Amino acid sequence: IQKQDMIIVSHKQIADHIFELTLRGSLTNEMTSPGQFVHVKIMNGSEPLLRRPISICSIDRENEQFTMLYRVSGSGSGTSTLSQLMKGFTVNVLGPLGNGFPVDELEEGQTALLVGGGIGVPPLYELSKRLTSRGVKVIHILGFQEQKVVFYKEEFTALGETYIATVDGSFGTKGFVTDVIDKLDVTIDGYYTCGPAPMLRAVEQKLSGVDGYISMEQRMGCGVGACLACVCHVQGDDTGTAYKKVCSDGPVFKSKVVVV
Ligand code: FAD
Ligand code: FES
Repeated sequence: IQKQDMIIVSHKQIADHIFELTLRGSLTNEMTSPGQFVHVKIMNGSEPLLRRPISICSIDRENEQFTMLYRVSGSGSGTSTLSQLMKGFTVNVLGPLGNGFPVDELEEGQTALLVGGGIGVPPLYELSKRLTSRGVKVIHILGFQEQKVVFYKEEFTALGETYIATVDGSFGTKGFVTDVIDKLDVTIDGYYTCGPAPMLRAVEQKLSGVDGYISMEQRMGCGVGACLACVCHVQGDDTGTAYKKVCSDGPVFKSKVVVV
């Protein structure tokens, strides 16, 4: 794990409140697995805020660049301060952190289902690139609230079959990602999902007969396993004392391991 001041190569808004930030620096070379995240330092004037965890969305090794997508959560938030930084500025990044999605469990010709919700969609992009480069067939189901917050439809479509669901029906299928899963008529060999907890629970339940991986989101402090801010409970533990740290044991867990 390293810390580095990385240079902003590009920074733009791609949907309502959603920004795409590309950073350059040698720290990119340490990024091994899709689903890992970085901890981003944001300054409030001369005061640093707690670092914000943001997933790695895509890695460009050749140019030592990586991209993250984030949602600005409101005026005065850390992410709103971040969104004001322009090309040429630097951002201090700690990472890469956590354990990502395993890509070598599926073979060439097998089918993977990637299910993302909202700001949980970004880490699935690098994952999809890795799976398709191994010859795995990918099907993406991406869920959003409404049309104006939909992003990366073309990028995912370029890699494989892509279905969009919006809660209000303004784009794609009206409803939730699980409504799209219900209509799929194909054998899934493995699934990967990232998004809000209710979605993760629903997907885990619906695909209970299939091996899968889920990526958890928790509030974080240190990001490196030292503060216990991010713990979640282990499924089937009656004592209530068995837990995992999302930052260092996760954020990606095999399905049915932790309580979502
Ligand atoms: P503020 O209101 O200023 O934040 C106040 C505090 O609350 C901060 O400490 C902040 O870190 C924490 N906080 C607020 N909301 C959340 C939340 N939903 N989850 C965790 N902490 C929160 N967001 C993205 O937009 N894109 C991503 O790719 C992404 N990947 C993530 C990966 C992981 C492993 C985790 C744990 C979270 C990820 N998030 C991602 C969520 C993101 O970290 C929070 O939305 C962000 O920290 C909110 O900060 P803020 O400055 O907007 O809000
Ligand atoms: Fe500190 Fe996970 S954030 S232990």
